[in-house]
Amino acid sequence: MTRVFSGIKPTGNVHLGNLLGALARWADEQHLADSLYCVVDLHALTVPQDPAELRATTLRLAQLLIAVGLDPEACTLFAQSHVAEHTELAWLMECTASFGELSRMTQFKDKSSRGAGEFVSGGLFTYPALMAADILLYDTDLVPVGDDQRQHVELARDLAERFNSRYGTTFVVPQATLPIAGARVMDLQDPSSKMSKSEDAAPGTILLLDDPKVIERKIKRAVTDAEAEVRYDVEAKPGVSNLLSILGGATGRTPQEAAAGYTQYGPLKADTAAAVIELLTPIQARYAELAADPAETARLLALGATKAEQIAGPVLARAKEAIGLLPR
Ligand code: AMP
Ligand code: TRP
Repeated sequence: MTRVFSGIKPTGNVHLGNLLGALARWADEQHLADSLYCVVDLHALTVPQDPAELRATTLRLAQLLIAVGLDPEACTLFAQSHVAEHTELAWLMECTASFGELSRMTQFKDKSSRGAGEFVSGGLFTYPALMAADILLYDTDLVPVGDDQRQHVELARDLAERFNSRYGTTFVVPQATLPIAGARVMDLQDPSSKMSKSEDAAPGTILLLDDPKVIERKIKRAVTDAEAEVRYDVEAKPGVSNLLSILGGATGRTPQEAAAGYTQYGPLKADTAAAVIELLTPIQARYAELAADPAETARLLALGATKAEQIAGPVLARAKEAIGLLPR
């Protein structure tokens, strides 16, 4: 059976880009494949975190994932730090990756060059090696992610191939999968940058827990352009194309399909807002129920970690043996 693995960081608030780029497919694929989904709390540590906040955000993210539709009985849902094999395999991956290839990672270049004098941790640099370990530990075939993570999954492929050729076949070589619409949801106010978790209450970001009124307002105020033609053309019409990706993503169509029948921006915005609200309303209702019972979520995460360990343990043992570490 096909094995699927993906992860999401417990930082900031989950937004529509996360849902359309990744989470919606996680919920679909859990029934088609043997799927593992991970709240990657260790990845959050690449920037300093408030400890109480990190704990709360990790739990809240797990609840949101269940609210989005992940069924802890159908898939394996767990927290990365609960399965020690991730950090152990990460070291082998750091020693398999070259300095040059880690230096070329776009996300590292972006984040490390942001503010002059800002703290840049060593973990921010080696992060893709940990991500490769996350993926390779589970003999993963497919990795459903948004477009921004494609380069990191490519690296995981390269590391698996390099390790296999040096030490004999050990890892399954994984492949990224992208959605038909919503692979890169852009900021509604600045369609040249991706919608992101970083800024709270940002007018260009739709959060999964935003009130319907707020969603309507944010979409109504989304940047478009001076023409009045609705067509999907990311270069010439980034704002309108972003709305079409969102509408398509929320209704299971390609952006081009979603464009059919629209001649004006007003109705496009109104329908996009309605589709997003329809998508998020049941998620918000389920989240409210789950948030009322944190002990139950903790129990489900513990169960997930136990299931994950059963796969990760033997794969790590295989890798340690292949590379020549003396068995205990
Ligand atoms: P992160 O929020 O960085 O932990 O990302 C979790 C998942 O959401 C990854 O698969 C990302 O590729 C995806 N993702 C994040 N931002 C966007 C976006 N603006 N559009 C589409 N997918 C996204
Ligand atoms: N780096 C990913 C992100 O920022 C999250 C992540 C960590 C991940 N490990 C993973 C995604 C393994 C897919 C597979 O979005």
